[in-house]
Amino acid sequence: MARILTGITSSGKPHLGNILGAILPGIQLSEQNDNESLFFIADFHSLISIKDANLVKEHTKSIAAAWLAFGFDTDNNIFYRQSRIPEVTELTWFLNCYTPFPMLQNAHAFKEKSNKLADVNAGLFTYPVLMASDILMYDANIVPVGKDQQQHLEITRDIAKSFNHHYGEEIFVLPEAKIDETVMTIPGTDGQKMSKSYGNTIDIFLPEKKLRKNVMGIVTDSTPLEEPKNPDTCNVFALYKLLASPEQVEEMRNNYQGGNYGYGTAKQALFELIIERYANERTLFDDYINNPETLETKLKEGEEKAREIGLSVLKRVRKVLGFNR
Ligand code: ADP
Ligand code: TRP
Repeated sequence: MARILTGITSSGKPHLGNILGAILPGIQLSEQNDNESLFFIADFHSLISIKDANLVKEHTKSIAAAWLAFGFDTDNNIFYRQSRIPEVTELTWFLNCYTPFPMLQNAHAFKEKSNKLADVNAGLFTYPVLMASDILMYDANIVPVGKDQQQHLEITRDIAKSFNHHYGEEIFVLPEAKIDETVMTIPGTDGQKMSKSYGNTIDIFLPEKKLRKNVMGIVTDSTPLEEPKNPDTCNVFALYKLLASPEQVEEMRNNYQGGNYGYGTAKQALFELIIERYANERTLFDDYINNPETLETKLKEGEEKAREIGLSVLKRVRKVLGFNR
């Protein structure tokens, strides 16, 4: 049995990158062997970028609904909000004191913004330490994430190793990242990594009309309709490829290379594929959003189970640090 753990920040609505990069691989792992999974909504993390309480609550709800719509079995696993086990911030403090400053200076979320330090809050700077606490507080063995999180997992392992080494004991379990090669980095509508923070997401749960508009907004080049097009440099094709069957992919590849096939037609095909492929999940998502009590009940149940594990690990840590009660 392995303990699987992953989180999604509630800084925006769940998007195709979150679904393919974290939700689906996570659920798949949760169904294997006797694995036990802890999937949570990283709502403390979202405060780095969002200060509007209602908005965070709304995003938390939609991320929870996405996990459930994709079939996460909360009866046999653990589903919770990070903020409901606030002791994670106590562990963060402890770990902060074992985290070398340059390691955080090199973390990519901070580095990206380090040319404008006035816009950087200390939360962004120490974000990887809170993430390390999320993982280490639950003795996680495997952490399914997208490629963008690899560095954070390395930081987590480094902190855990240095802590264990210092006390000469295996206080923390060393977690491993699980990054699925085929969905490492899902491109957004502008070709960069799809991310809530870049405003380039595909939201598969939008009502049809809005979803169509979302897909039609994918940026393409200006090759004229009649001319052959290169599928391998096109964002529409890149996304289509992730969702379609091999036959459908082959057909679209031929269409691109044959000419007289416009990007608008390709986008329409992608839109229809999303609607068809995720019909069931779209309905379930709406059901959960319209029944917030169900979401709340499931999250509360998970919270109890998460607290038990988290506090037992924290107890171990307090003990070696001399803060046991
Ligand atoms: P965002 O970048 O939109 O804020 P998060 O940072 O909350 O998304 O990511 C939650 C999970 O989804 C992480 O495991 C992350 O690696 C994965 N993920 C996010 N965007 C992508 C993407 N474009 N491709 C693959 N995985 C992604
Ligand atoms: N930092 C992750 C992200 O932005 C979300 C996250 C927070 C997470 N804590 C985690 C992912 C713990 C895996 C494990 O994608």
